[in-house]
Amino acid sequence: ASDPDLDLFIFGATGDLSVRKLLPALYMAHLHGNLPTGARILAVGRQALSREAFIQQVLGGARQFIEARSLQAEAWDRFEALIDYVALDATAPEDFARLARHSRAGAQRVFYLATAPALFTRICAHLAGAGLVDAQARVVLEKPLGHDMASARAINAEVGRFFEEQQIFRIDHYLGKETVQNLMVLRFGNAIFEPLWRAPFIRSVQITVAETVGVGSRAGFYDGTGALRDMVQNHLLQMLCIVAMEPPVSLDPDAIRDEKLKVLRSLRPMGPAEIARDVIRGQYTAGAVQQRAATGYLQEDGVPPDSRTETFVSLKAHIDNWRWGNVPFFLRTGKCLAERCSEIVIDFAGQPFSLFPDTYRSAGNRLVIRLQPEESVQLQIMAKEPGSGMRRRPVSLDLDLHTAFTERRAEAYERLLIDVIRGRLTHFMRHDELEAAWAWVEPILHGWAAQGDAPRPYAAGTWGPAASSALMARHDMQWSEEA
Ligand code: BG6
Repeated sequence: ASDPDLDLFIFGATGDLSVRKLLPALYMAHLHGNLPTGARILAVGRQALSREAFIQQVLGGARQFIEARSLQAEAWDRFEALIDYVALDATAPEDFARLARHSRAGAQRVFYLATAPALFTRICAHLAGAGLVDAQARVVLEKPLGHDMASARAINAEVGRFFEEQQIFRIDHYLGKETVQNLMVLRFGNAIFEPLWRAPFIRSVQITVAETVGVGSRAGFYDGTGALRDMVQNHLLQMLCIVAMEPPVSLDPDAIRDEKLKVLRSLRPMGPAEIARDVIRGQYTAGAVQQRAATGYLQEDGVPPDSRTETFVSLKAHIDNWRWGNVPFFLRTGKCLAERCSEIVIDFAGQPFSLFPDTYRSAGNRLVIRLQPEESVQLQIMAKEPGSGMRRRPVSLDLDLHTAFTERRAEAYERLLIDVIRGRLTHFMRHDELEAAWAWVEPILHGWAAQGDAPRPYAAGTWGPAASSALMARHDMQWSEEA
């Protein structure tokens, strides 16, 4: 049977996410033949724009985020033809009745809510009121999915009044990254790693998402959010889940999500003492990022001069289960850091005894999985230094995934949008995962509020406050760039 017609509604279509990510991703999906033949895109926004003005201004802006070699005139014209714009006030039910007239009977409807979460409930209720939500409909929710446990639960409950769980796609775009998905294959598609993937063979795990950009023009959102909510609660914990979970019984979305949920529920809760000792929060001050002068966070446009919002977090977490025993998981993320780099480092335990006359205390075996900027997997091993004697030196087996595979690698949003269209839930968070992640993160927010002190300053262009290195040093460990 051929695909049903697709009516894809983007709420918040003139916003930053839509311009930078969603519209370019949809164009790429279109270019590569991944949109169903009967697809239409209904861009919905508050601004009173004509279709022509939307195409000129907004789509024209999105074009800049598409790589030049993919911009093909004919494909672009056909893409434009798929798009319509509807101006709508999310609080006005009559506007939704008008919206309903744009949707075709029998079409598969997908509603992508790239709006402030405060609007989620109203939009869902009005969509249902206008008769647009049938059993085939799907809703996509963009982060932030709440800013604490209560608000996350409220979103789940409210959206759940109109959509069944299998109709709800909660986006964490890190789950759409090729290398994050590849982690499942690395672990469960090879037999050699899994026997060692546990205590006591692993000494520690590091997960870093370092950015060089500052808060840019997003202070209005970011200052009320901070790095813990913006990055740790979702992206870093989701990566931790995939690194730490047990093998799922199948590739069925719920089989995988069940295992991730177990990891989140096994995270050791942090009390005031652990928060003070094992969680470092920082805020960037003026400096230079890769030789370019950078303003301090407190001097950025729109940031209150006494803001205590953290732009950096590093912390030590534990997963209290049989597999992970006491293995520390070090998580770290920040803005205005020395390099843009996202990676997972599996630091294997040292040898019980060293035969060789050198100073390497541990075996030095590390598996480094890089997501950004390049996608690679490296295994660091020890080799004999050439010459007489038996000295060792660390060397690395390098797999560059761009060289190994010549196929095009789609951006996270493109891959996730195609999953939504095809109804594949695997790379989306289930309601209970979202709540379990908040359950672990929320006490840290409360702990900070109770401590009442400000985040530690770090100069833009460094790797964060010195306390972050000290956290590792206390365990006789180092962050990967220091090793
Ligand atoms: C977003 C955060 O979810 O992820 C941003 O809100 C952050 O603050 C971004 O910059 C990082 O994503 P990526 O794909 O560029 O690593």
